[in-house]
Amino acid sequence: MTSDVQLATRPADVSARDRVDAAKNLVVSFVLNGKPLSVAVAPTELLADTLREGLGLTGTKVACGTGDCGTCTAILDGEAVRSCLMLTAMVAGKTVETIEGLAGESDIHPIQQAFIDTGAVQCGYCTPGMILAAKALLDENPKPSADDIKEAISGNLCRCTGYTKIIEAIDKVANAVA
Ligand code: FES
Ligand code: FES
Repeated sequence: MTSDVQLATRPADVSARDRVDAAKNLVVSFVLNGKPLSVAVAPTELLADTLREGLGLTGTKVACGTGDCGTCTAILDGEAVRSCLMLTAMVAGKTVETIEGLAGESDIHPIQQAFIDTGAVQCGYCTPGMILAAKALLDENPKPSADDIKEAISGNLCRCTGYTKIIEAIDKVANAVA
């Protein structure tokens, strides 16, 4: 996980539904999974809440809500970011990718397939964020070293797999013979 573009304070006593139900007096236009869209949001709305509650893209998971676990990872202009810490207003004019945007019409993404083939998915809660962190890495560096892979997913926690299979899956994509 690289740096977060914008940090926001997340009020602990306000639910995601309360946040997205606040006055939506701000229209934010951005490209989501390759398609331009405009969405009305509250000025304090977090990107994770807009994706999940506003747009129904629940592939983006929220666990800690405080920037510590990486389950909410999205890709913003090519960089893996924690969507639970970003204001939706900050993505105006930018490109956002979520796990829903990865699969093609008939096939899942090679990184998704590698996670399946390698056994890198157990409960699966961390998986969307892990895969997006991996995609951001491979888009920038198609042949990462093991250390590069570890660094890229260092902000993404998994309590099931012990990480070995996840690293193996990402390495398998990087070293796939075309
Ligand atoms: S839910 Fe965003 S980092 Fe944990
Ligand atoms: S597969 Fe369960 S948290 Fe990673």
